[in-house]
Amino acid sequence: MKGRFITIEGAEGAGKSTNIALLERLLTERGIDHLRSREPGGTALAERIRSLLLDDDGLGPSALAELLLIFAARADHLEKCIVPALEQGQWVICDRFTDATFAYQGYGRGLPRAAIEALQTITQGQLRPDLTIILDLDPAVGLQRIGGRGGLDRIERESIDFHAKVRNGYVAIAKAEPERCVLIDAAADPAQVAATIRAALVERLPELQ
Ligand code: TMP
Repeated sequence: MKGRFITIEGAEGAGKSTNIALLERLLTERGIDHLRSREPGGTALAERIRSLLLDDDGLGPSALAELLLIFAARADHLEKCIVPALEQGQWVICDRFTDATFAYQGYGRGLPRAAIEALQTITQGQLRPDLTIILDLDPAVGLQRIGGRGGLDRIERESIDFHAKVRNGYVAIAKAEPERCVLIDAAADPAQVAATIRAALVERLPELQ
């Protein structure tokens, strides 16, 4: 692939949107053509699947149906959006990707890791992000932050215990893949978080130096 694929992950309320905006500014400053997307979502079909997954309408899927819907959305997103952009040399910044599936459906819901890995291979082949920023935050703090926004989605409404498992999952992923993942303390002062992310990007992606 000619373009770079960067993903941002982490706790609810950890500041993904703010830091994605910062990353976009950095790429724009460097004259790098890029595309911002999100998961679940990113195509018309995947956005409809997002609604099925996140709307708190009482139709909540079973854990396995949730996993399969996430990968159905991801397959559409990859084929119609992410892969063509990367092939043309655009950089793609994605708000969540498959690490979220390992964290939420694997660590959070307890679905078998092997099943997620199999779907990952079927859906993505060898494609993995070049760099993943994981914003780490105590779920009690994160949920308090998003609680103020109102209208929590179906997954955000899960128990604190579920969100603690998700957090542990993200920390484990970051430890297992230190070349790809940067774990950032999202409880720090926002300016400090932004500076740490910027330094990590510049250090790991030579095009940004
Ligand atoms: P957000 O991206 O707006 O934070 O919300 C997406 C929600 O979907 C969030 O609660 C995490 C959840 N999610 C999963 O459970 N598994 C996944 O693979 C992805 C991409 C998201």
